[in-house]
Amino acid sequence: MLQHFFNPSSVAVIGASQNPAKIGYDILNNIVQYGYGGAIYPINPRAPEILGHKAYPDLASVPSEIDLAVVAVPAAAVMGVLEQCGKKGVDSLIVITAGFKETGPQGARLEEELVTRARELGVRVVGPNCLGIIDTAGDLNASFAAGMPLAGRIGFFSQSGALCVAILDWALGENVGFSRFVSLGNKMDISETEVMLSMGQDENTRVILGYLESIEDGPRFMKAARQVSKTKPIIIIKAGTTSAGAKAASSHTGALAGSEHAYQAAFKQSGIIQAESTQALFGYAMAFASQPLPKGRNLAIITNSGGPGILAADACDRSSLHLIPTRKETADRLREFLPSTASLYNPIDIIGDASHERYEKTLEVILKDELIHAVLILLTPTAAVDPEAVAQGIVGLAKDAEKPIMTAFMGEKRVRGARKIFQDHAIPAYDYPEDAVAAMDAMLSYRRWLEEPERQHQRFEADTGKARKLFASVVKQHRHDLIESEAREILKAYGFRLPESRIARTTKGAVRAASEIGYPVVMKIASPDVLHKSDMGGVRVGLETDVMVEEAFFDITSNIQLRQPEARILGVMVQEMIPQGKEVILGITRDIQFGPMIMFGLGGIYVEVLKDVAFRIAPLSVEEADAMIRDIRSFPLLRGVRGEAPADIEGIRDALLRLSQMAIDFPEILEADINPLLVCPEGQGAVAVDARLTIQE
Ligand code: COA
Repeated sequence: MLQHFFNPSSVAVIGASQNPAKIGYDILNNIVQYGYGGAIYPINPRAPEILGHKAYPDLASVPSEIDLAVVAVPAAAVMGVLEQCGKKGVDSLIVITAGFKETGPQGARLEEELVTRARELGVRVVGPNCLGIIDTAGDLNASFAAGMPLAGRIGFFSQSGALCVAILDWALGENVGFSRFVSLGNKMDISETEVMLSMGQDENTRVILGYLESIEDGPRFMKAARQVSKTKPIIIIKAGTTSAGAKAASSHTGALAGSEHAYQAAFKQSGIIQAESTQALFGYAMAFASQPLPKGRNLAIITNSGGPGILAADACDRSSLHLIPTRKETADRLREFLPSTASLYNPIDIIGDASHERYEKTLEVILKDELIHAVLILLTPTAAVDPEAVAQGIVGLAKDAEKPIMTAFMGEKRVRGARKIFQDHAIPAYDYPEDAVAAMDAMLSYRRWLEEPERQHQRFEADTGKARKLFASVVKQHRHDLIESEAREILKAYGFRLPESRIARTTKGAVRAASEIGYPVVMKIASPDVLHKSDMGGVRVGLETDVMVEEAFFDITSNIQLRQPEARILGVMVQEMIPQGKEVILGITRDIQFGPMIMFGLGGIYVEVLKDVAFRIAPLSVEEADAMIRDIRSFPLLRGVRGEAPADIEGIRDALLRLSQMAIDFPEILEADINPLLVCPEGQGAVAVDARLTIQE
């Protein structure tokens, strides 16, 4: 896969120049100076030789086959170069040149023409508008980056050339090695998905790192990531996560959904570790590239000062890591050499006068305790301690350790030497304890992802024919919004439990409906134009008598006539009142990149204020439905507090899965809310009380 980009036997640089001020010079110079072993062909219309290599006026003049071409000629000349590639049989091309889609409509057109022609010719293209590619295993630096990373286990792809440069500089400073570096540029042809898949197959790459601003094909990306992340960790930083699209939405789900939710959900569902900042990206990369995964959640902290230990403990508290209390046998062994003032509880505080021997002995004991799965060593540079000696001691013990070890030596001047020792020996060295804890936590969640069993998908019987007919009739009437009775029909077709209800057009009709259904009842306006019924005074609940029903009918219709005079009123819906339950909201929205997205949250009128909601991309597996229910902050309320009966979680899961199936079956559903879904006590199911659906014409 993308074989010639990473393993070429020959490389041509089109636009190679003798002028050191030109990018074409830099690229050729990088290829030559970093020891690429294959054939090198500079292409330049005038120069006979560049950097010691015979130059050719065009590709056709090169007497041998060419695997890879790198282009650094002005944008207007790139099409001509592509044609030359086609003729010469060059199937892999890196276009460094800028001046395409990123510049506006004219550039976009040029790019479109280029990609169409490239596909006709069977030429695969990285870029345009990119920095190039580096493959350390092949000693190939086909980029104009200043420097060559050390060979290592991290593969990196980036949509930003500038970030490539920054990462490269960081890697050189920190002694971090890379296997591959790919600047994706405008992703005209080759996207993040293909690069990720190729890194997944590359035996030199152990960790995949990515910087993305957008994803070309969400479902394809998720599928690939799910596959690759089962063998290698993928860590991604996603920039530009706000969504303008969400602002125009009319449903609660639409208003709450943003593209950042879609990305977060997609990453979570495909095993991608999302880094929240560039610092975290580096921090996680260091950890994953050098340390084994923790076998469990038990972390031990060794520190020579209380404060940093507490900071680390606080960070653990916010993570899935567990500060395991030191067990007796281990404490007894520590007591043999630690002063009586030391704290043997976890964090293990070996106190301010700790020397490097004390650190070493403590770590030795901790590493032998098989209940402890990971170790974090903190140090503040007191006068008593020689940080470099401590670092040497840790390096010695870490060699044979089978658990991850991380360090956070705080300070700068006095710990610089120690950090350098850690860098030289592939032990993650963080500036702050919180960063170390976050990296360890990321490793733990990745381990859990690896251990997750195969996901289960469940399909329900549904009357799709009936739903299809109903949608067609709504479209025929040039409507987008279904009225409640139509929405109820759709939900019924998908097996949702609904409260009994009738539409009444007169007070008399309402009273008749109420007595047929049985008191108490709820009444709601039936109108295709009133979207948020309760805000408009269109809902009354707890109606116990005929008189109350008559009054409610009058109130509801006059409220709507007054507040929304143009609204068409079809009548008033009289509905069975579900007496008990917790209100939750379920919804569908559509994300441009990932398609149908399902929302879950605690319902009621505060849903948009509290924003306590979880999102996942459909189709949901049973496990994903369960996970999104547990994701919300108010989940404990559903389990029941202060002696309350727990709510029927299975009923919620069932409803989420049915909704997910509906979203997949009918791509024309743009948005939907089931609000509220009233969840009865455990074992009694859940009832879809109210629903809204918006479809595309
Ligand atoms: N075949 C072979 N060589 C060609 C050629 C062709 N069709 N057309 C031009 N050349 C040669 C030129 O003669 C020149 O060589 P010379 O210095 O010996 O005269 C060389 O290619 C470069 O052409 P030039 O016209 O001087 O362009 P340039 O070097 O000023 O700019 C780019 C070319 C690609 C660098 C520029 O257009 C560009 O896109 N810059 C931005 C790159 C960027 O930022 N990318 C994104 C990074 S993240």
